Amino acid sequence: MRTIVVTVCSGTACYILGGSDLLTLRDHLEEPYSRHVMLAGSPCLNRCKDRSENKRPPYVTVDGKVYGNMTLETLVKTVQSVLDAS
Ligand code: FES
Repeated sequence: MRTIVVTVCSGTACYILGGSDLLTLRDHLEEPYSRHVMLAGSPCLNRCKDRSENKRPPYVTVDGKVYGNMTLETLVKTVQSVLDAS
């Protein structure tokens, strides 16, 4: 299993709409997943004003792919799925 980077947007819109919860990701991942995630916060990812994909904050990137409307539960599942496929 390789290590992936998860970047949580900590810009104002994302932070207010749940981004702060996403920063607790590591506390909600079981082994061995938690050992294979590099978690980082980021200034605005410049997605919050883009409605073309019908997504909304909070935004994260998981292994380079952008996800919107993210919840902690969905982020845990997404990370596990990406790691399982790696
Ligand atoms: S505040 Fe998160 S994308 Fe702008």
